[in-house]
Amino acid sequence: MGQCCFRRTTSPKLHGKYTVKKSLYENADTQTHVVAVVDDAGKPCAIKIAPFDKAIQEYSFAKMLVHPCIARPREMFVRESTCLGDKRRLVGYIVQDLLAEDLLSFLNRRGKLPTHHVRVIASRIVSALQYMHTRKVVHRDVKLDNVMLAVPGDCASAKLIDFGLAEDVGAMQRGLRGTLTYMAPEMLAKWDTGVHIGPAVDMWALGILVYALALGTLPYVVHQRNGLSIIATFDFVKDSGWWTCDMHLKDFILRLLARDPKNRMSAAEASSHPFLQGPIEQ
Ligand SMILES: Nc1ncnc2c1ncn2[C@@H]1O[C@H](COP(=O)(O)OP(=O)(O)O)[C@@H](O)[C@H]1O
Ligand SMILES: [Mg+2]
Repeated sequence: MGQCCFRRTTSPKLHGKYTVKKSLYENADTQTHVVAVVDDAGKPCAIKIAPFDKAIQEYSFAKMLVHPCIARPREMFVRESTCLGDKRRLVGYIVQDLLAEDLLSFLNRRGKLPTHHVRVIASRIVSALQYMHTRKVVHRDVKLDNVMLAVPGDCASAKLIDFGLAEDVGAMQRGLRGTLTYMAPEMLAKWDTGVHIGPAVDMWALGILVYALALGTLPYVVHQRNGLSIIATFDFVKDSGWWTCDMHLKDFILRLLARDPKNRMSAAEASSHPFLQGPIEQ
């Protein structure tokens, strides 16, 4: 991919009304940029710029999901541009509210979170997933980088973002889509032959995310050799941090990290788990 066009453009106004302020994120592999902009009314927004096919898929899922814990796009526009490479082609621009910080940066900055903060974030993601799963949509990429705080430092403002891999329940998945460390065992086992996607994959990923929030580290590492064999033991670390965790929190994580998806807690079951019934202020 060429250099980010927003640093060299002579006319930084996008769609005639968005003034580009700075680049927030760039991924050369997926040809995706996120830039901070200000609209003509002075409202700060973020625009995600991606190849048209990817952007339209993401926008159509995100647009139909109306929930306080899901970031909702404001609009999408399309341009023919060389912005994501050297050839002119269709590029999609998804406009969203500007959010403050993703959970990966938050965790790196703050270290592991106190139990009541983990509870607030977990209950918001569970609520978002319960809503999506009822509508037969699977996110497929639940992870720290895809949950953002709308208000700096306020866990009660957490929202699920990035519907780039969202799919209908039951769709067939072939190949590795998503992030290995968060990928459910049933997906890792059959990624080369193909597998029907179920909502349980999001619940596994939530288990990894909650573990990371509570213990400040990912539970285990997944290795990929020769682009083919995947080594995942699922023997997640149970060190002193684990043993001193709140007992309901440990049970919550263990029920999400059930290897057999049939035994894994659904979003509806998670919403009434004792961990989420505990105090949210301390
Ligand atoms: N609305 C937003 N406000 C501020 N930053 C954002 C916003 N959306 C995304 N980002 C930042 O950009 C990163 C990548 O966005 P994401 O939609 O997850 O793209 P990708 O599909 O490449 O993973 C996020 O992890 C976050 O740090
Ligand atoms: Mg993402």
